[in-house]
Amino acid sequence: MILRAWQGDITMLAVDAIVNAANEALLGGGGVDGAIHLAAGPGLLDECRGLGGCDTGEAKPTGGHDLLAHWVVHTVGPVWRGGGHGEAVLLGSCYRRSLEVAVGLGARSVAFPAISTGVYGYPREAAARIAVDTVRAFGHDHPGDIYEVTLVAFAGDDLARYEELLAAG
Ligand code: APR
Repeated sequence: MILRAWQGDITMLAVDAIVNAANEALLGGGGVDGAIHLAAGPGLLDECRGLGGCDTGEAKPTGGHDLLAHWVVHTVGPVWRGGGHGEAVLLGSCYRRSLEVAVGLGARSVAFPAISTGVYGYPREAAARIAVDTVRAFGHDHPGDIYEVTLVAFAGDDLARYEELLAAG
């Protein structure tokens, strides 16, 4: 599996599946969730209404509607509450479950935003480590299932942080 980092707006990516950092209601929001709904058009919200929400650490798929991506995998990251409330396990679960759902769809290329690092307040350095470690472990455990995973950096120095972790290999 190729694991790479890229700086920009996830809604612009022509990959098979993009992951959305949603909330348990799955009915839209701000941040990357808002950007994805805006770019996908109202059909995405209509489809999300039928999903019945999503637990934290879990993932559910929809179509990509007006996006370039064929699918959106909606996952719900943990709200950061100091680190002693299972946040790391739940964040790792978001990455792993999103990849499992993507494989179930037949996706070969997947892009992730930095789940939980915006409104949900997860420290960016710790979150980047979990992202890289969890996606790498998935690639080792499921060789050949996914061709390429893109970790999308949007804010601040996320790109440099991802690249450092990837180079440390
Ligand atoms: N492309 C890529 N990344 C983006 C984009 C975008 N267009 N817009 C924002 N981001 C980045 C942010 O910089 C942040 O690093 O996505 C990361 C996650 O931030 P949030 O979108 O705030 O997501 P999160 O912290 O998981 O909080 C989820 O926010 O809007 C709501 O509905 C969402 O309630 C949920 C909560």
